[in-house]
Order: sequence, then C-alpha cells, then structure tokens
Amino acid sequence: MRSTSLRRGVLLLCSSALLLAFQFVGPTDPLPATGSLGGPDRSLTWGETQDWLRGRRVFDHDFSLSEGLGRPHYNGDSCRSCHFDPVVGGSGDVDLNVSRVARSFGGTGFATVLNADPFGNPQILSRLTRPDNARREEYDPAITDIFEQRNAPPVFGLGLIERIPATAILAQQDPNDLNGDGIRGVARMLSVQSATVLGRFGWKAQVPTVRDFLRDAMGEENGITVAVTGSPFGISADGDGIADPELSSDDFEAGAFFLEHLAAPPRANPTHPQAASGLLFFTQIGCAKCHTPSFNIDDAAVPLFSNLLLHNVGTEEFRGMQENGAGNGFYRTPPLWGLRHSKPYMHDGSAETPLMAIRAHEGEAAGVRVAFDALSATAQAALLAFLDDL
Ligand code: HEC
Ligand code: HEC
Repeated sequence: MRSTSLRRGVLLLCSSALLLAFQFVGPTDPLPATGSLGGPDRSLTWGETQDWLRGRRVFDHDFSLSEGLGRPHYNGDSCRSCHFDPVVGGSGDVDLNVSRVARSFGGTGFATVLNADPFGNPQILSRLTRPDNARREEYDPAITDIFEQRNAPPVFGLGLIERIPATAILAQQDPNDLNGDGIRGVARMLSVQSATVLGRFGWKAQVPTVRDFLRDAMGEENGITVAVTGSPFGISADGDGIADPELSSDDFEAGAFFLEHLAAPPRANPTHPQAASGLLFFTQIGCAKCHTPSFNIDDAAVPLFSNLLLHNVGTEEFRGMQENGAGNGFYRTPPLWGLRHSKPYMHDGSAETPLMAIRAHEGEAAGVRVAFDALSATAQAALLAFLDDL
C-alpha cells in the first residue's frame, strides 16, 4: 500500500514538474536577475524591460494553425519547445533533434534536393505534420543516403558572440597547418547580399547574425513567415492562406532584442581549486587550441571556450551534410560555456556526458584526445570538474 501511494506521489510530482517546465513564462512573470541563467545580460531600462519580456513571450509563444504554424516546415510550435532545458533559451534533448537529408552520389557529390517544396529548404525534414500538409518525414529511400541529426543548443550569450570582432576570429585560422599541430581551423565565410560575412551561429556556422537566425528558425522550425528585409534568411511567403508576414515586425524586433540580451551562462564556482587546475590541463593538452577560452570586446571579456572556426573532429567514415564552405564532417567548435546545463553533446546529441564527447574527438583533435587519455586519473577528474563548472 505504502509503496503504491509513494509511487503515485512521485508520478504526480514528475508530471507537475513537466507541466512547470513547459509553461513557465506567463505574461506577468517577473524579469530574472541580471546575469542569471535565462536573465538579461545587463540592467535594462523600463522600456527595454518591456521589449525583453515581450521578446521572451515571442520565443515562448505556441503558434497555432490560424497564425500560420507549420508551413512549409514544422518541427515545433514554439522556439521554447526545443530550447527549454533547464530554462527558456536552454537546450533540447535528442528526441527533438532536427534531421537533414541528402543524396551524396556515393560520397562524391553535393547534397541534392529530395523534397521539392518551392518554399522551404529541401534538406530539412519536418518532424511534425499538419492536417493539410503531407508528412514531410517521408523521403525516397532509394536515393537518400545522408541523414544528419542536429541537436538544439542553448541560445544564451549570443549577443556577446555577435560582438566579437571578426578580425580576432579570423586571426586564429590555420588552414594550411603552418604550425604543424594537425589542427587547422577555417572560418565559415558566407555571401550575404553581395557581401562576404563571417558565419557565427549554427553547428556549421551557417548563419551570420542573431537576427538572421531568428528569421531562419521562424521559417524552418515553426513555419512562420517574416517580413521582407533583403536578408536571404527566413521565409517571407508560404502560400498557406494566412497573411504574410505571420510574425509582426514589432514581435520580430522584440524577439531579436531578447535573444541579443540573453545573458551568457554564469560559471558555477570558477575559484574551486579542482576546476581551476582542470582549466590548466585543458590548456596544457591542447583543448584550448579550438575551445579558445575568451575573446575581448570593448567593455568585457567573452569567456565562450570556442574559436568559432570549423574543424573536422570526426572519423574518416563519417558521412554528413556538405555545405558550400563547410564540407562533410566540419562543425563550428561549440562554445563550452553553460556546458553543465546543455546536455546532450555534439552536433547530433550522441554524447550524453562531456567525457563521451571528449572520447568522440578524432580527426584534427585526435592528438589532443590521445593526450587526454594519457593524463593521470586525477588530472582527468580535474579537467572534467572544470567542464562541469562551466
Ligand atoms: C525542433 C526544434 C527546434 C525549434 C522549434 C527551434 N530550434 Fe533553434 N535550434 C534547433 C537546432 C537543432 C539547432 C541547431 C541547428 C543547426 O545548426 O543546424 C538550433 C539552433 C538555434 C540557434 C543557434 C545557436 C548557436 O549557438 O549557434 C538559435 C539562435 C536558435 N536555434 C533560435 C531559435 C528560435 C528563435 C526559434 C523559434 C523561432 C527556434 N530556435 C526554434 C532546434 C530548434
Ligand atoms: C581540433 C579542434 C578541437 C579540439 C582540439 C578539441 N575540440 Fe572539443 N569540439 C570541437 C568540435 C568541432 C566539436 C563539435 C563536433 C561535433 O559536434 O561533431 C567539439 C565538441 C566538444 C564538446 C561537446 C560540446 C557540445 O556542446 O556539444 C566538448 C565537451 C568538447 N568538445 C570538449 C573538448 C575537450 C575537453 C577537449 C580537449 C581534450 C577538446 N574538446 C578538444 C573541436 C575541438
């Protein structure tokens, strides 16, 4: 008897925790503390506070079919549906991964069109379907041979990443491996409105700015159209009978302000002696060659632990998406700040722990991974304690 009611109690607790996790940004919810996880990055004026809160409501909003949800793409009904762990703006678990598909022509060719949708990105398979839209998870198994999963990363601190001078990032490239350490690092250069700009966001650094990512995700994840601005990102008309743009300019501006002013994830306790010695090992064995501890901007340091460059740390057998300027196996070094909150890890979410992520480093990072394996058990534990402090 006792254990049954106990179990029922636990079940009740779990389901109310779940409800809480999915529904916690009400219009009257207060502003989290400045610099806290899910809070603003600086103290805001009254007007800015209203914009920030409105932007958070846009990010949290469950779009409905009558608002234009789900066409041409439908992976979730809000931004928060994938970016929520442990607070709004966080990461998502593997069951929320987005799939990309392509045909590689036996490994020699470029990804080709598999879903002939005139409005959307043909590489993206929608996870969800709406009554009047064919199930887009369907693809032709006879010609499809590339399946890539992408896990939802957290979106904290992106405004700071955007302000890192491009020159500082470009200076870290070593495309011809002149220093002979096996690590290259190339920037993702994108052609946008006849200019060449640095890609900073997304697993393959395929998007240059936070605003462009907001446009892009509205279309590719929620099927919500955005105003025509000249940006090649986002979808501005989707023929679903709902007036375009489905997202008003005011909501767009608020959403962008929220994302640009979402604080970087704070460290747990950087002065903890074990974490502090772990950082020394991290640097000593070469993790910091790609996971650059910090960049400087005008008024602050940006301790993101990434060089924002593309590296191939996969195996030779790996087959994934190829994009112009980001070949098979090349991913942007992911920032490690906030790591203790952002599991699962790697582009496909295949690593459940930081240790599994380290063990999966091959290719350009193979030498560094071997150096990690050669560390003493105490040193490895310190390095992991450092990661767990981020
Ligand atoms: C179905 C899950 C899902 C939904 C819904 C979703 N995202 Fe994402 N988000 C992802 C995935 C997966 C990635 C990585 C995509 C990639 O790089 O290909 C991502 C990446 C991002 C990034 C880049 C972060 C970085 O560090 O580079 C931003 C910004 C972002 N999403 C914002 C949004 C916004 C804004 C919305 C709502 C309009 C949204 N997302 C809706 C899954 C989702
Ligand atoms: C050659 C550059 C390079 C080196 C050296 C390197 N990494 Fe990485 N790291 C990457 C890239 C690129 C990824 C993403 C790969 C992917 O998603 O497939 C990554 C992913 C990770 C992740 C997962 C992060 C996340 O959010 O998913 C962790 C943790 C990590 N690295 C820690 C380390 C540690 C610790 C070391 C040293 C032992 C190290 N890395 C050395 C480039 C590097």
